[in-house]
Amino acid sequence: DKGNHKHFMLKEIYEQPEVVARTTAHYLDMAAGKVRLPADLPFDWANLPRISIAACGTAYLAGLTAKYWFERFARIQVDIDIASEFRYRETPMVPGGLMIVVSQSGETADTLASLRYAKENGQHVLAVVNVPTSTIARESHIVMPTLAGPEIGVASTKAFTCQLAVLASLAIAAGKARGFVNAEEEDKLVRAMMEAPRYMNEALKQEEHIAGIAKMLSKARDVLYLGRGTSYPIAMEGALKLKELSYIHAEGYAAGELKHGPIALIDETMPVIVIAPFDKVYEKTVSNMQEVAARGGQILLVTDEKGAEHAEVETVATIVMPDVPATIAPIVYSVPIQLIAYHTAVEMGTDVDQPRNLAKSVTVE
Ligand code: M6R
Repeated sequence: DKGNHKHFMLKEIYEQPEVVARTTAHYLDMAAGKVRLPADLPFDWANLPRISIAACGTAYLAGLTAKYWFERFARIQVDIDIASEFRYRETPMVPGGLMIVVSQSGETADTLASLRYAKENGQHVLAVVNVPTSTIARESHIVMPTLAGPEIGVASTKAFTCQLAVLASLAIAAGKARGFVNAEEEDKLVRAMMEAPRYMNEALKQEEHIAGIAKMLSKARDVLYLGRGTSYPIAMEGALKLKELSYIHAEGYAAGELKHGPIALIDETMPVIVIAPFDKVYEKTVSNMQEVAARGGQILLVTDEKGAEHAEVETVATIVMPDVPATIAPIVYSVPIQLIAYHTAVEMGTDVDQPRNLAKSVTVE
């Protein structure tokens, strides 16, 4: 049932504050300001040699975001791979490591094969999965469900932000257990996570503005998305959503890679969507925007008030997000990139809930 919404995708976008709140409430002890993980983990965070992550598509991009969190909070090395590459690469694995697989359906063939490879190679396997009865959930040692509820739209939205919520909680817990996050910091991070749904509601208020911007995007042949730090996976997720829904060619790049190739694409016809909260790397992204502006590129900036103030370039549009703690920025900034893709697709008249050539669950390789 789509409720009052025209598409399942839009309904699922709007469900996010609620399902992210449900998911965080499951993993965070709000009153104590602590992360609450499944009891009796079969490994000790302090002795973990490394973490590997494998997943596909949007779930892979949740994993890539998590790499930044695990490295920052827990000071642990993370290898992240697209599952279809991981499964055949025969990568050596130090026994006793942790393999995290991320999957909405829990049935993705390549992700399942990666899980099995990791198990055979002595890894503890933890699944972040939305379907608790799925094969991936059944075959994993530890299951941390996302509580997004059934996701009908082929484009993943609420499962993605719930995956981010689970992975952020896990990274904070790892940081605490490894002694890099103290009780006070944990409390602060947990509080920040609890605020995410409220900020997502704020972000949803930009829908009308975004629908206007989508009219312009629907005329583009190619769209480039840029971001740095945890905004880099979100830029890639924005590009993935746009191409799968609107069939417009889109690419997500690390902003710092601009001058290593994609800058050659930029001219007056090329919209460049920049995902850039006013964070530690904001200034660096500003210089990339200047490079785009100097070549006549059409900048569409997704930032907060401070970022808008310090952008130093002319933009064709600026989407102003609430000012959010850095850790939850990827969760909150997912909302505008989903709405951009959704409205561009609606503008183009494509089948939003069932894009051509795609399946919700990819059970064959
Ligand atoms: O069910 P899974 O999360 O394992 O699926 C992975 C990808 O197939 C999926 O995220 C795909 O990229 C979506 N269509 C993205 O919106």
